[in-house]
Amino acid sequence: MKDSIYLDNASTTYPKPQNVYDYMYEFYRTQGFNPGRAGYDASQETAEVVQGTRKMLAGFFGGTDPKYLTFSYNASDSLNMIIQGVLNEGDHVVTTNVEHNSVLRPLNHLKRDGVIDVTHVPMDDRGFIDPDDVRKAIKKNTSMVIMNHASNVIGTVQPVKEVGEVCRDAGVCFAVDACQTAGVVDVDVEKMCIDLLAFTGHKCLLGPTGIGGSYVSEDTPIRCTRFGGTGIRSAYRFHLDEFPYRMECGTLNIVGVAGLKAGLEWINEQGVDAIHEQEMKLWSRLRDGLRAIDGITLYCADSPENHISVLSFNVEGSEAADVGRMLDVEHNIACRTGLHCAPLVHKQLGTDKIHGTVRLGIGPFNTEEHIDTAIEAVREIASIKKIKNTSV
Ligand code: ALA
Repeated sequence: MKDSIYLDNASTTYPKPQNVYDYMYEFYRTQGFNPGRAGYDASQETAEVVQGTRKMLAGFFGGTDPKYLTFSYNASDSLNMIIQGVLNEGDHVVTTNVEHNSVLRPLNHLKRDGVIDVTHVPMDDRGFIDPDDVRKAIKKNTSMVIMNHASNVIGTVQPVKEVGEVCRDAGVCFAVDACQTAGVVDVDVEKMCIDLLAFTGHKCLLGPTGIGGSYVSEDTPIRCTRFGGTGIRSAYRFHLDEFPYRMECGTLNIVGVAGLKAGLEWINEQGVDAIHEQEMKLWSRLRDGLRAIDGITLYCADSPENHISVLSFNVEGSEAADVGRMLDVEHNIACRTGLHCAPLVHKQLGTDKIHGTVRLGIGPFNTEEHIDTAIEAVREIASIKKIKNTSV
């Protein structure tokens, strides 16, 4: 990535803070033992790092007890466990058009198999879900509302607290996919009435890929859907029902946990609000710059409030993939194009018919210079396109 500009942070953040690389290396060299599987000191110390990270993360998400904070591979992995562990035959689920396939596909499979029924609430024309629409979609047999905290395509931060209150009133389980927000927008399971939270480690939490997890609020009815080793009570024939074992089996990705711990330490040092504010300043600069170019359509809300630093756009008359290729090959700028694994957002926007959008995702290490270079690059691409269109 030398000399190139990385604007695909919504996909995964890059680079990570230096302390993440340093700690992962040091930890794995000196403490890379199997936690909780043996009594020797080194294994116990590794288990303490895992426990410490559980505690840090549970606190970070406003949870009451670290045992309910469990690790998985990523948000998709946890969302699968949540969806398959909570829903029963005959249940109805309310979700939204803003979801990622990590929610849509597990639900679609259960629906296709005749297990559940699903209602998708559309977003309004600014990209937000109206809590009242969620309330109206809840039926007698609705057992879960599941939605993302922020869209990975249009960047709108949804009113999860208000939707959480609707769910509490209706006695329905509330699950939130905090994939795009954990680390840049406050997530508080208690205040937001969230029963089940899924997160990934490699985005705004600034850890590596392959680590994520969930927080399950006390007394939320979730079954264990994976069975295997736990390191304790090995003679027992079944998987342990108690937390954290109910949601974890087999040896953990300890180097991932370590990276997540270091990422979280860096975030706590900087402050979630300060990181977000800096990113949104750059986002506003990018939005204003792109907005001033002829032939650009932006897909975002009109204000940086309730927004994350993701900006989708299209260049009139061009395929998103072609613009992405030009940004890459001619301007050395990395971005993501297409449907971004969130097909219903594009369907509602109508961008499914033109193969999606170009998405720029800003991270904590981007600069004004990166943004200005990206604006100039898009201006050049749009002007070439315009000349071509006029000469046809
Ligand atoms: N979910 C990731 C994205 O939005 C991969 O690009």
